[in-house]
Amino acid sequence: MIRKFTFGNPLSTDAVIATIPSSMDALPYFTSPETGSFLYKMEEDTLIYGLGEAVRGINKRGWIYESYASDDCNHAENKRSLYGVHNFLIIDGKKDLFGVFFDYPARLTFDIGYTSSNRLVITPQDNNLDIYLIESDDINDIVTQFRQLIGQSYIAPKWALGYGQSRWGYKNAEDIRTVVRRHREEHLPLDSVYMDIDYMDNYKDFTVNENRFPDFPSFVEEMKREKIHLVPIIDAGVKIEEGYSVYEEGVHNNYFCKKEDGTDFTAAVWPGHVCFPDFLNPAARRWFGLQYNTLLKQGIDGFWNDMNEPAIFYTPERLTNTLKELGDYCGRNLGVDDFFELKGKMEGLSNADEDYRSFYHNADGKLLRHDKVHNLYGYNMTRSASEAFEELLPEKRILIFSRSSYVGMHRYGGIWTGDNMSIWGHVLLNLKMLPSLNMCGFLYTGADLGGFGENTTEDLLLRFLALGIFTPLMRNHSALGTREQEVYQFEKSDVFRNLLMIRYGLLPYLYSEYVKASLKNKMLFRPLRFVYPKDSRAAQIEDQLMLSDELMIAPVYEQNVSGRYVYLPENMRMIRMRSLKDYDTELLPAGDHYVTIPLDTVVFFLRPNCIIPLSDGGENITEISGISLKLLGYVTDTASYDYYDDNGYEKDYGDPAHYNTIRVTASGNTKVTGERRLELSIASI
Ligand code: GLC
Repeated sequence: MIRKFTFGNPLSTDAVIATIPSSMDALPYFTSPETGSFLYKMEEDTLIYGLGEAVRGINKRGWIYESYASDDCNHAENKRSLYGVHNFLIIDGKKDLFGVFFDYPARLTFDIGYTSSNRLVITPQDNNLDIYLIESDDINDIVTQFRQLIGQSYIAPKWALGYGQSRWGYKNAEDIRTVVRRHREEHLPLDSVYMDIDYMDNYKDFTVNENRFPDFPSFVEEMKREKIHLVPIIDAGVKIEEGYSVYEEGVHNNYFCKKEDGTDFTAAVWPGHVCFPDFLNPAARRWFGLQYNTLLKQGIDGFWNDMNEPAIFYTPERLTNTLKELGDYCGRNLGVDDFFELKGKMEGLSNADEDYRSFYHNADGKLLRHDKVHNLYGYNMTRSASEAFEELLPEKRILIFSRSSYVGMHRYGGIWTGDNMSIWGHVLLNLKMLPSLNMCGFLYTGADLGGFGENTTEDLLLRFLALGIFTPLMRNHSALGTREQEVYQFEKSDVFRNLLMIRYGLLPYLYSEYVKASLKNKMLFRPLRFVYPKDSRAAQIEDQLMLSDELMIAPVYEQNVSGRYVYLPENMRMIRMRSLKDYDTELLPAGDHYVTIPLDTVVFFLRPNCIIPLSDGGENITEISGISLKLLGYVTDTASYDYYDDNGYEKDYGDPAHYNTIRVTASGNTKVTGERRLELSIASI
């Protein structure tokens, strides 16, 4: 059951698609003290799930989180906000079980036992918000109801589940050709190469630098022949430059965010001074979205939207004032206080709250100060692209994912989890975020594998990839100036090849589960608790996940270890794969196990009476057969699997012709059905 409670006069966020009348009753569970906060008293062992893209655990208790889309590349435990804002929680206690969504586009804090260990206190800036309460005695049903409320998740084209290589610093077509050639020569699977800001002409959106990429459409064609999709980045800020049509049209039509005095707000990002398109203005949103056509027409079929919190390096006014103030420190013998004050002044240049309070949106004639709708900016940038794709190419799936997001954006695109680092803790952080993101509708998601900032190591990249082979977005991305981390840069080429091949082996299963999760409003990755609600140990597990109904994953996330402890809530069949052809399996009883997982091995666990389809691998998605599949199963009596497949690029995913049900029955004493080949016939293939 879903109930809506309206306070004050909330701004519309379009996060929710269902029309639900506001309840006249008082909001249950919470008390609302005079401060305007919402207080819920947690029991000692109440678990709190949710908040999508956030630091810390699967269980969010014990920290204070802030919903305020932030461009912060240090995803450390002491942070309160990252790029995405996903205000959904599930309260899972002995007494109460419910989901709650705070639909509120400005800064909101979730103090989850931080100030006082048993108090959950949610504090908005003002009292204008909608709160949705979702009740059920099944935690999975709470998620499904929430997802029905917010609408079906975006479905990416099938090729976007192939492996992608990215790096900030591929300067020209030749650099990209090298990446592709090295992968192809060494038979390392690859489906896409990402184009970071280097491809643009002076960091101007929707332009291509002709010196670096002469005859871009032919280059796109050449890459297509190599079965490579090029995916350019698009940034939120539009360079201020006379004669640049995107800028001039934006100025002419009043499509940029304005200052209080009605002039265009100026900030600085990669190209220097920029204006921010007013994505909350429907006309501006449509206009900006249609700009993507410049690249679509040149053969591009995928994009990533960036810097859309929006990130601000500085504003010209702040820079001038700061530089003036800095002059005062010149030649002085700075003591500790002065020195830190000076440092603070420099750091305060970027993403300043005061700057976010100094510009306005025009949403259907209503003037909105940016900080009051801050969390909707990246969401509406991606919506702008997605709505334009729908208008321009209604049949075709275009890849789109974003850095910043809000609940509702999951209908328009996916997200990647931003500028992580090449550190071991970020493998685990990636794992922990997955179920929280899935709850909030973000299924097409993944981290920068290998780590974005800092230098990776071969073992870290291997372990990152060993988790990444399960995530729909599987992309290796790194920052300018860091150690090059394409898989061919390292010695263990065979191991990388096998690992990537395992991904392509799993692809029929992963694609099937990914699309079904979207169509059925389910999660792809779940905490163990969601599958084993009565198992108190399962509720404590923070480093393993259930993948759909069939698998459990338990990746290694520490350096110099060749295994880890794994908790099995029930008997499971462990599969340890070194390659698609070389793997061992072992039936393990419920309980704790130390599992050996050397660097060249991927481990996963099959649940009883479950089967998954596997392909024989391939070097790109077009080589993956959806027809002749091998089955991997742990069947004690009967098992069935609903296999979904389609052509991967059209939008008729709801069509029942795309499903095939596989049934396996164990005969006599056969307790385990190892492998069977299955010839499938699917109408659409
Ligand atoms: C931002 C993005 C990162 C990208 C860089 C340069 O930091 O998060 O992925 O590589 O900008 O465009």
